[in-house]
Amino acid sequence: KMQIGFSKIGFPKQGALVLGVLEDSKMLAKTQEVDRNSGGMITAAIKNSNFSGKSHQILSVFTPERRIVLYGLGKGENIDELWSEEAGGRIFSSLETSGEKTVTVIFENHSRTKKNIDKRAAHLAYGALLRSYKFDKYKTKDKLGKDTTLKRINVAVEQHPQAKKIFSELVAVADGIFFARDLVSEPPNVLYPDSFAKKLTALRKLGLKVEVLGEKEMSKLGMGALLGVGQGSSRESKLVVMRWNGGKRGEKPIAFVGKGVCFDTGGISLKPASGMEDMKWDMGGAATVSGLMMALAGRKANTNAVGVVGLVENMPDGNAQRPGDVVTSMSGQTIEIINTDAEGRLVLADALWYTNRRFKPKFMIDLATLTGAMMVALGQVNCGYFTNNDGLAKEMERAARDVGEGIWRMPLGVEYNKMMNSDIADMKNAGPRFAGSVTAACFLERFVENCPWSHFDIAGMAWSSKDSPTVPKGGTGWGVRTLNQLVKSSYEA
Ligand code: BES
Ligand code: MN
Ligand code: ZN
Repeated sequence: KMQIGFSKIGFPKQGALVLGVLEDSKMLAKTQEVDRNSGGMITAAIKNSNFSGKSHQILSVFTPERRIVLYGLGKGENIDELWSEEAGGRIFSSLETSGEKTVTVIFENHSRTKKNIDKRAAHLAYGALLRSYKFDKYKTKDKLGKDTTLKRINVAVEQHPQAKKIFSELVAVADGIFFARDLVSEPPNVLYPDSFAKKLTALRKLGLKVEVLGEKEMSKLGMGALLGVGQGSSRESKLVVMRWNGGKRGEKPIAFVGKGVCFDTGGISLKPASGMEDMKWDMGGAATVSGLMMALAGRKANTNAVGVVGLVENMPDGNAQRPGDVVTSMSGQTIEIINTDAEGRLVLADALWYTNRRFKPKFMIDLATLTGAMMVALGQVNCGYFTNNDGLAKEMERAARDVGEGIWRMPLGVEYNKMMNSDIADMKNAGPRFAGSVTAACFLERFVENCPWSHFDIAGMAWSSKDSPTVPKGGTGWGVRTLNQLVKSSYEA
């Protein structure tokens, strides 16, 4: 694991140095100092390259003593927390296998960039930390990161005690993100409902209250929709309830609900073989909820929150649910199963109803890798979300923007809703091909009563096939940051 430290501005004897340069090759004061001390080597290097200090441009310069990394600051005005995170990620990845063991980032104040320097320094470290994540527990040779030489990042900034304090809270969020990424990346023979639930009961050590309901308990509650999905699996379905009571006693909680399909074969409506291995991450919604609860507990958030995850495996089997079956959900509403591959909404139907009836939360937000149609609509850039509450939409838009995760509101409406009516039951679980993500959301809406609610279809977000500055490819932990920010900015005393 990467070591990260903060100190006052100075030049340590060893390791690489990162120094800032504004656009048009304007060196910051410390950069100029190093340039002078090296007899103008930085000036010469800039002259002989295409480096000009453009935002996020990087150039390594070698003096006889050490590597100097010039980092482009652009005009300087865009340097906020998110910019700094990206810089941290880029600095990490550019030095990761460079041979350097430590790097000191000189985080210098400048007239164009002076606000919140402690915060920005903390976020630079956070960006580097987020990018340094690896999932290599199943590699016995060729470990990911076996060529990693960079072990330590030191951020040198005048306000280092403040930066350190801000960073310690960000570490709790990073821990939650890493937990979510780990869960998403685990193979489905290792992570199934029971083993997932065990990883969640281990969170009790952080002060979370964790309850695990098995099939017997869920059956008593009448959760026929969720149980129908797990019916063909030899693994027992579970519902896990996590509670963080960091707020006022007796104050209504906020609630997060996750789809935890540990493997989605499609069931009897079997999926094609190609790419089916991806369906190990069909529990991404549950992973995000779990990571969020870990983050809230880790940073001792001043709020009451519940996280509920429905954990099942969707398998074809002699005992599996059939297309044509009619199941009764906990709400009493009946559902005709048209396609056993539209299973996530069945799990969420009971999990949402249960959460609303038991906790009467201020709001419910569910996350689910629910539809392929969501990826068709928005790709892997924005997460589509649906909500019955404009106030909640506003708060979420702001939270997502603050942490740099993209979200885009999608519509609900009666015209879509009635596309889910069934001829023989209250509703069917799959409608026509068109507007597949919208009709899925309308299906969920039938289980939230009057509670302010939002649904995030994270099908395009839970997994990434390429690196980005702060998210290495693989499980992303998408949503932990936005939801944590939502809590922090609007639901903490
Ligand atoms: N887990 C899938 C959705 C999915 C597909 C997520 C690809 C990520 C990548 C979901 O359970 C599913 O199979 N949905 C069906 C619904 C259809 C049968 C109405 C889909 O999207 O095709
Ligand atoms: Mn499915
Ligand atoms: Zn699924």
